[in-house]
Amino acid sequence: MSSTSPFGVYLHIPFCASKCDYCAFATWTDRAHLVDRYLEALRTEIVRAVDVGMPIASTVFVGGGTPTLVPPERLASIVASIPVVSDAEITVECNPDDVGVDMLRTYRSAGVNRISLGVQSMSPHVLASLGRTHDRDNVARSVEAIRSADMPSFNLDVIYGAAGESLADWRSTVRDVVAFDPPHVSAYGLTVEAGTPLAAQPDRHPDDDDQADKYDIADELFGSAGLENYEVSNWARPGHESRHNFLYWRQHDYRGFGCAAHSHRSGRRWWNVRTPERYIDLVESDGDVEASAEVLDDETRRFERLQLLLRTRDGIPVDSFTEETLVLLDGLVVPHPDDATRVVLTHRGRLMANEISLRFA
Ligand SMILES: C[S@@+](CC[C@H](N)C(=O)[O-])C[C@H]1O[C@@H](n2cnc3c(N)ncnc32)[C@H](O)[C@@H]1O
Ligand code: SF4
Repeated sequence: MSSTSPFGVYLHIPFCASKCDYCAFATWTDRAHLVDRYLEALRTEIVRAVDVGMPIASTVFVGGGTPTLVPPERLASIVASIPVVSDAEITVECNPDDVGVDMLRTYRSAGVNRISLGVQSMSPHVLASLGRTHDRDNVARSVEAIRSADMPSFNLDVIYGAAGESLADWRSTVRDVVAFDPPHVSAYGLTVEAGTPLAAQPDRHPDDDDQADKYDIADELFGSAGLENYEVSNWARPGHESRHNFLYWRQHDYRGFGCAAHSHRSGRRWWNVRTPERYIDLVESDGDVEASAEVLDDETRRFERLQLLLRTRDGIPVDSFTEETLVLLDGLVVPHPDDATRVVLTHRGRLMANEISLRFA
């Protein structure tokens, strides 16, 4: 099967073994008794969407939460029930504590061809500061399992800016990550999310200058290892860029399944009820799981499109800025290497992407 316009599917698995104190995602550590009913509800929500003509997916992303906490066979069978194009990119987000080669082979049998591994750091005291439960050996074993299971692609997620992380710690995390020879890496500055325990402890908040230095280190070492920056926080070998992420950045349509999952169709965005209990109850009683929706006006859509694309190597049309602003942005944006009608961020510009977005004409 093939499809012309990309369409993405996201499945949310809201269970975690423990809650990281910086995380604001819809996840719970005391709901293991709901796993069975939750997976059934997920399956039902998908069947209902397919029955009313959901487009064929070009990418699927199973995220969380911790997808590796639910039985792999059940997850695989749900993934296999989603209609996809023949060359679909299908990713499962994995925690290094849980990954094993049998689990990955089970995913593989359902068409999964990409793993995103939550490494976060390779420094024991930084992992402890982040409240993570895995260690360096878990990461090494997971990467080995990913290779043994013949996964065609994988991503390693890392975070910089945790309390107690020195520049040397971060440099050595990046070196360790590069040594795994990953086809894709995402490096995120630790963000203080409102309402998290981290938000209530200002002495542990990251410092902007320290994070900028760490971004420079990441970009330099990933770049010299052949990983090309294609979005502010993402680096990949050619051909391993995440198609699912690009679909979000290019404002294509996507459908999210599960509690708190977001969907988008032609400028209308909606999201499901937040808790797994409410989600399960509604699906089981044939109710509507949609919690709320918004329709974006043309101006908001344009702003979001420019803001997202500016962060990518697609860049944006040069006339998104006035002539005067372009002069002010000297050294921060440059002409696109293959398209004179567009501009892209420089390395220095990437550090100021948000501020630059406030200058659109
Ligand atoms: C929500 S987690 C889900 C995957 C998995 N449970 C994990 O933690 O690795 C997905 C990614 O979001 C990123 N993330 C979550 N909270 C963050 C925060 N406050 N600041 C920066 N990155 C964050 C981490 O890099 C993480 O790998
Ligand atoms: S394991 Fe991942 S999803 Fe779960 S609490 Fe930690 S960061 Fe959030």
